[in-house]
Amino acid sequence: MGTVLDVLACPVCSGRMIIKEKSLVCEAGHSYDIASSGYVNLLPPGRKNNAVTGDRRDLVRARSRFLGTGLYDVLSDAAAELVLHALSGKDPVFADFGCGEGYHTCRIAEAVRDGLGAVAAVGIDASKYAAEAGAKRAARAGFPSFAGSGDCGLGFVAGNFFTPPVADGSLSCVVSMFAPVAYGACLRTLRPDGSLAVLFPGPDHLIELREAIYPEVKRAERSLDPPQGFRKAEIFEKKYKAHLSGADALSDLLGMTPFGCRAPEEARKRALDSGLGSVTVDVTAVLLIRE
Ligand SMILES: C[S@@+](CC[C@H](N)C(=O)[O-])C[C@H]1O[C@@H](n2cnc3c(N)ncnc32)[C@H](O)[C@@H]1O
Repeated sequence: MGTVLDVLACPVCSGRMIIKEKSLVCEAGHSYDIASSGYVNLLPPGRKNNAVTGDRRDLVRARSRFLGTGLYDVLSDAAAELVLHALSGKDPVFADFGCGEGYHTCRIAEAVRDGLGAVAAVGIDASKYAAEAGAKRAARAGFPSFAGSGDCGLGFVAGNFFTPPVADGSLSCVVSMFAPVAYGACLRTLRPDGSLAVLFPGPDHLIELREAIYPEVKRAERSLDPPQGFRKAEIFEKKYKAHLSGADALSDLLGMTPFGCRAPEEARKRALDSGLGSVTVDVTAVLLIRE
């Protein structure tokens, strides 16, 4: 079975990686430190020291607090259902592209480990703050990271999912939750029988919050037309009311949601002052299989 190290590829030369002391090193000698928190920065060179394109630290923290309330657990359960379906009878190796701070990634990896007896998974996010939080979470959940043996490992790296530091054809499944879908990168990194599990907002997702922010709200399409190379295998909806336990939950939800943190200050204040007690969660889950 594939391991976490079998999945990773050098962002400079695409070479295989090994662990050497406290670094990941490729065959050509490019070396990447394993941070004390356990994550590795595999952002393409030249980007590493620039402002990260991924989520800011405050956003990552808001998401972590909000997800910790359990209000989105239904969504990781839905993703885990798709991933388990995708991995059935296959090598249980998956990556989460745009994993955020790893809450869902860890829950999916736990479901795979418990259901199939083994897992090798990698969380990839452009935000080093997110990758760092993911690595700490995985350690707390008892997952070995890059040194994981053949049957259990979960590593987090800072990386760009459009050019992921992942070996060609190494994955049985890619997960993409609430993030742009990098179809080209998925086709390159998936095995010929691999699948892509996508979760994206439905038309009524957080509608109450969006109505509090925008004078006019655009409703998203529920459909997803797979590009060439994929066929749709499963699709279902998750729609429910999430009861916010107080002002903090509302403020964290606003702080972690792309439209919330981009909203002008005045609109954010309006949304916070609205005192919303609950919001609609409306999400579409789709499994696409390579053909
Ligand atoms: C809306 S968040 C979703 C996070 C997580 N999947 C979840 O559902 O909790 C989108 C994530 O994608 C990351 N992201 C955005 N562009 C990226 C890129 N080009 N490569 C890797 N990650 C990216 C952001 O840093 C952010 O953590």
